Amino acid sequence: MFYRIMRYFLFMLSPEKAHEISIKQLKLTHGTLLDMFYRQKVQDRPLTVMGITFPNVLGLAAGLDKNGECIDAFGSMGFGHVEVGTVTPVAQEGNELPRLFRVLESEGIINRMGFNNEGVDQLITKIKESNYKGVIGINIGKNRATPVDEGKNDYLICMDKVYQYAGYIAVNISSPNTPGLRSLQYGDALDELLEALKERQTELCKKHNKYVPLALKVAPDLSDTEIESIANALLKYKIDGLIATNTTLDRSMIQGMSHAGETGGLSGRPLQSKSTEVIKKFALHLHGKIPIIGVGGIDSVIAAKEKINAGASLVQIYSGFIYHGPKLVKNIINNI
Ligand code: FNR
Repeated sequence: MFYRIMRYFLFMLSPEKAHEISIKQLKLTHGTLLDMFYRQKVQDRPLTVMGITFPNVLGLAAGLDKNGECIDAFGSMGFGHVEVGTVTPVAQEGNELPRLFRVLESEGIINRMGFNNEGVDQLITKIKESNYKGVIGINIGKNRATPVDEGKNDYLICMDKVYQYAGYIAVNISSPNTPGLRSLQYGDALDELLEALKERQTELCKKHNKYVPLALKVAPDLSDTEIESIANALLKYKIDGLIATNTTLDRSMIQGMSHAGETGGLSGRPLQSKSTEVIKKFALHLHGKIPIIGVGGIDSVIAAKEKINAGASLVQIYSGFIYHGPKLVKNIINNI
């Protein structure tokens, strides 16, 4: 009920302003009496995925708390893991405004944020301040100014820095808003990247005496052949997890709806079945050897269950959380 009222007012603002204010409010209210409006008890339902114990099946997807400013507040809503980022080696502003749009008719969101973030060092400062008991995933990317063929270095820089603070590291090569980034999902570029990341993981594991799993985050806009070849590469380089999926460029589900013509990645309900199909196909090729974190359009317990049935071991939400608030978190965790 409270979230419904909040949403009414927030949706009168531009999406980016609403986001900014919400993050500010969460930062200010967490740990005070006012956090009773979102703090909630959820059932303890631990499960082990990628060798780590998660308190429950649900996580916050990357992009909502890019700079790790509200990890504890999201934890108090019940999220078993919070994926912060995408962060890049150096802070960057992202694309010009407006760059975030609501597709109200279908509970969708279109964004072309372009990895606006305060940089990896600032994120680490925030993580050190956090008291969150769940798992922190750190999602890393490359700066826009770094040419794609040198992109690997940006991932390695971030990996070196975040390794000791991460529960797992998510490697984002699937944002549609950094020119050329998605080309890292294919052929030799993918092989080279995964080989380098795996090598670095082995070195860092020795250095810190701690194994931090690596998960690759992919787009939903992949052909069957592309899915098969990514799955083979994941198996070849023994990557620990797959996060499927990021946002889509496909607009077929929202023809004629508001903002359908905006450039960027579409998320939320219009992405739901597409991402589930991608998860099913990956599951077929991965033979249960690499766990899948399912994300894309989850807006109910049923939608979350569909992701699990398709082959996901954990699930994440972003857009569904914007439209439905903390109640969705509790519903999913307690009913799966
Ligand atoms: C995202 N997403 C995203 N993903 C990522 O890996 N790094 C990022 O920085 C962002 N940023 C971002 C911003 C905004 C405004 C949105 C809506 C989404 C993608 C997100 O993590 C998720 O994969 C998709 O949104 C699909 O899930 P939902 O939103 O349908 O639950």
